[in-house]
Amino acid sequence: MRLSTPGGFATEVFLLEAPDRELLPVGAWTLVGDLRLREAWAQAGMPEPEHALWVAVPEEEKKLRTVIPWLEHWARIPLHRDATVVALGGGVLSDLTGLAASLFLRGIAWQVWPTTLLAMADAALGGKTGADLSAGKNLVGAFHAPRRLVACTDLLAGLPERHVQNGLWELVKTALIQGELAWAQELLQEGPLKVAWVERALAFKAGVVHRDPREAGERRLLNLGHTLGHALEAASGYRLLHGEAVGLGLLGSCLLAEEQGLKPFPPSLLEPLVKRLAPLAPQIAPWADCLPLLARDKKALHAPGASPDASTSQIQCVLPRPGEPAVQRALPPAAWESPHARLLALLHQESVRV
Ligand SMILES: NC(=O)c1ccc[n+]([C@@H]2O[C@H](COP(=O)([O-])OP(=O)(O)OC[C@H]3O[C@@H](n4cnc5c(N)ncnc54)[C@H](O)[C@@H]3O)[C@@H](O)[C@H]2O)c1
Repeated sequence: MRLSTPGGFATEVFLLEAPDRELLPVGAWTLVGDLRLREAWAQAGMPEPEHALWVAVPEEEKKLRTVIPWLEHWARIPLHRDATVVALGGGVLSDLTGLAASLFLRGIAWQVWPTTLLAMADAALGGKTGADLSAGKNLVGAFHAPRRLVACTDLLAGLPERHVQNGLWELVKTALIQGELAWAQELLQEGPLKVAWVERALAFKAGVVHRDPREAGERRLLNLGHTLGHALEAASGYRLLHGEAVGLGLLGSCLLAEEQGLKPFPPSLLEPLVKRLAPLAPQIAPWADCLPLLARDKKALHAPGASPDASTSQIQCVLPRPGEPAVQRALPPAAWESPHARLLALLHQESVRV
């Protein structure tokens, strides 16, 4: 099924069960695929192009050095500037392949076939590609939208349960950005994944990205849960997965919103949130470790020339509201101290209770 996207949107979006070879590029193409998907791809009857690269790239290797051999390989083939690269994998692989496609011959076309729930619901759409630097995640990258996104839910069959949960947090984020309490509650219930949830998330993100492709305003709402989330993810030494850290950040944002005088979320949302997040409590770093990371956040607003300083910087924070769209507010990093403490207390209480 082709999803409807705004007129002129850079990416055609398809949501299917089984992969369909008809959606592969017409003309010359190559593939960068996650090794874990090689068998499933072949079993689905999908072709493997000559010169395909099958790779295993862990989050720690989301680095520029990983894509250099790919670029050298394409240059040796040589891959023509009219060729298309197909990325088959999770967010790490699609961020890197998109980045490589943006660099090769100053930019060639690419398609993305996301294979994790997180990539289907979020990472693969929106044209942000990137790699990490030692100073932080996603500090280098390019906006380079894929021509086509093809999400095939059958490919999720082998995805480990922890990664299914991980992707679910980006869906909960999507619901909370829109103030969709009932949807957030449904997502937090135990039960099988629904394809309709992915469809809803893709449709929402396509609209936001189309209206604000360069993140000048509305697109910043997609960072809900990411401010505290990124700090917790880095402070855990990346033992927390991205989505898990976002989940913690979402609860933190609900608490911060209330402290900022916004309408509080009801226990019917907060209780299942706490219950789902409680197993992550041991991974929450102490406040002293989070503060410097928050001050260095990419969304921190510093005076020109000033170095990141927790006492003077402000961060663009996204605050959710029940029943209404989330709002943005510039706040000092210290504003997160109390939500961080409450988050820890709530999750510890819950893990003792269970
Ligand atoms: N570009 C964006 O807008 C954007 C948005 C959100 C997140 N991201 C990035 O996404 C990355 C996280 O992506 P992720 O959660 O998909 O993790 P991931 O790409 O590391 O994949 C998770 C694991 O699952 C394996 N895997 C992938 N698909 C599988 C399948 N179908 N069956 C079995 N195993 C499979 C992978 O090999 C990997 O070990 C982060 O680097 C984050 O920065 C990017």
